[in-house]
Amino acid sequence: MPIIPLDTTDALTLGLPVDDNATRFSNYFHVLREVIHWSNGWLPLEPAFHAKYVLGEHIHDDARGQVKVRRRIYELRANEDWPGAPSPELAAQLDRLATASSPAEHAQVVYGQLKPTLLAALELHTTLVDPITDEVSLLVLRQLIERQRRHIDEAAARWTITPEAPFVADLGALAIVKRETRDLQVLPPLDEPARDEFVTVTPDGDPFLGEELYVNGDENHVPTSPEEQQHFFHGLMDAELCAAELMARNSHEYPDMPWDFHVDMARQTWDELRHARVHEVLMASELGCRWGDFEIGFDYFKSIYAFDLTGRLLLFNGTSEQKAMWRHSHRRQVLLDLGQANVAKVFDYLLADEVPHVHNGVRWGTHLLGGDPAAYRARMKELREGLDRTGQPMAPPQAT
Ligand SMILES: [Fe+2]
Ligand SMILES: [Fe+2]
Ligand SMILES: [Fe+2]
Repeated sequence: MPIIPLDTTDALTLGLPVDDNATRFSNYFHVLREVIHWSNGWLPLEPAFHAKYVLGEHIHDDARGQVKVRRRIYELRANEDWPGAPSPELAAQLDRLATASSPAEHAQVVYGQLKPTLLAALELHTTLVDPITDEVSLLVLRQLIERQRRHIDEAAARWTITPEAPFVADLGALAIVKRETRDLQVLPPLDEPARDEFVTVTPDGDPFLGEELYVNGDENHVPTSPEEQQHFFHGLMDAELCAAELMARNSHEYPDMPWDFHVDMARQTWDELRHARVHEVLMASELGCRWGDFEIGFDYFKSIYAFDLTGRLLLFNGTSEQKAMWRHSHRRQVLLDLGQANVAKVFDYLLADEVPHVHNGVRWGTHLLGGDPAAYRARMKELREGLDRTGQPMAPPQAT
């Protein structure tokens, strides 16, 4: 059903001129683009798991929101003038994102200034469109409003946010700089991700976890006893966080990749955080342990992060995630046979999500290798020759 009931024939309101409408959406585009970009950069450095989760979920919401905003700009004004670049006034606010020196400072700029200003402009926008001639914009705006409002509330529960006066009365009315684009800066390379202060990080991680848990084929060992499942799922929760952090950094460190790549990375970041959450709940509810009970290590993360984007996508998504599919399915079957239905179900869902994650590696790895499947296979062969039996690179990447 349309927003205005079909039996209503009140006069149409004039509403916004199409150009002004496209300009408003262009301003939202610029804000969302940079919020996503910098949130991806800071996500690995946020120590608290629940704050990291919230940040990742918001990145995914905003990436989907930006898809709709881009689409609406394209529909309204399908030429190169829109979205252009942000006005100097907006650019000065967006520059604040680049000066943040911690996840908490980043959160202050995003949730104390940018999102409230965005929300106010979106709400004003709904009063400016005619709901019959421009129902399409109205539907997009309502969705964006609901999400931005929720993000601001959720952030207030995770960080100390001081609400700031909006830097402009109406963000949507700012002019855009046509036929220009704005480059994005990138944070320095990560040393290692951050974890909750109660988690112990050691060079070797949990000594309980042996290689036979991570190999494929006859030698693969499925953890079935309560003690080994505690250690295994604790290690897996950390591995999910590392996966989310790798994807977030892939997006942040390669801002010039096509927009669909960033949407795919946002989805996978959220998926991996959801997986971590599944393990957190499983540990507390079924396994009698908690996040932080055992040591963790960043050896594997660092061995993959050391590669460029192509290497990361081929080694992590195209190899590690691809081989994990076999192990998830094997684990599921063994646990089902033992009557552990709930633990088996977890592996079945991990397996289902792994399919698009592997595809991300193949699709974007091939893209980076000139769209040539033969080049992808050749590079994969070369990279896999440098892996140990658990799939971890034995040496850092060769300088090229
Ligand atoms: Fe996962
Ligand atoms: Fe995985
Ligand atoms: Fe995955």
